[in-house]
Amino acid sequence: MWNLRTARLMRPAAIGWSIFALLAAFPGASRAAGEEGNKPAAEGRNVGPGEQGFVAVVVDGPPIKSDQIKSANHRAYSRGMTCAECHTSTFDFVSTASVQWANNFPQLTQDEIWTKVVALLPGRERFALASVRNNQPTATTVDMVLDKEDRVFYVVSEVGTEKLLEIRENPAISAVRFEGWTVAEGGPKEWRSVQIKGTAELIPSSDPRFYPALVKYNLVRISKERAERRFDLMRITPTQIWYFDTTLSAEQKSPYQIWKRK
Ligand code: HEC
Repeated sequence: MWNLRTARLMRPAAIGWSIFALLAAFPGASRAAGEEGNKPAAEGRNVGPGEQGFVAVVVDGPPIKSDQIKSANHRAYSRGMTCAECHTSTFDFVSTASVQWANNFPQLTQDEIWTKVVALLPGRERFALASVRNNQPTATTVDMVLDKEDRVFYVVSEVGTEKLLEIRENPAISAVRFEGWTVAEGGPKEWRSVQIKGTAELIPSSDPRFYPALVKYNLVRISKERAERRFDLMRITPTQIWYFDTTLSAEQKSPYQIWKRK
């Protein structure tokens, strides 16, 4: 089993960059591997630490297709390494890099993923929202509120914005919110994000659902009369959500978890 002691041993920040320390890191890698049946990483090229500080040792493997699943007997390697570091791998829209992670490392249950999505989105949360027209995407920022029961998101937008015009023609959207390490803010190099794909329904202020939703979801803090003149409401139904959380890989889980609407 992976353990904290091993993880610390493998952190170059903690052990420094001396040859001795690097040599010490290799047995660390093989011990980290030490799940039964796994081959220890006795050979390979040290290619340095990743963002979370774990040293990667590359051992070239055969070319793989991205829908291939590594066996239970597959050699062990350090946290954060991708399949592509040791294998040349094909990718397609079915077996993307995220799907490759999800297929090769344990997934949470759909309910567990949903609970984590809800925990990351407690209130009115800032998202980047992409709409598309004539093959040209537009990304803008919006505040989204999750309706936990219906599993939909609400957004208000000034009438006549580019995104509303685009969504009127094509309701397909994608939206993402992230939190975690940035160069400027520092802190632990861990990230969490929620990436949505789905469709957006536009609800004009003449619709009886408009104002009750604004109040219920605390979407704006201006008078009813102003809100009705200024805004359209958007109701976003996610068809799938990728929940990304680097800390899950410390628990041997896939950092990429996918939730799908039934
Ligand atoms: C540290 C390098 C490394 C990484 C990272 C790695 N592999 Fe491998 N893999 C190998 C090597 C080397 C072999 C050939 C067998 C051996 O020497 O262990 C192999 C063998 C395989 C095989 C065939 C045998 C088996 O055990 O299943 C598959 C399939 C495979 N890898 C898939 C993957 C996938 C999928 C990932 C990512 C989730 C991945 N590998 C990550 C090095 C790696």
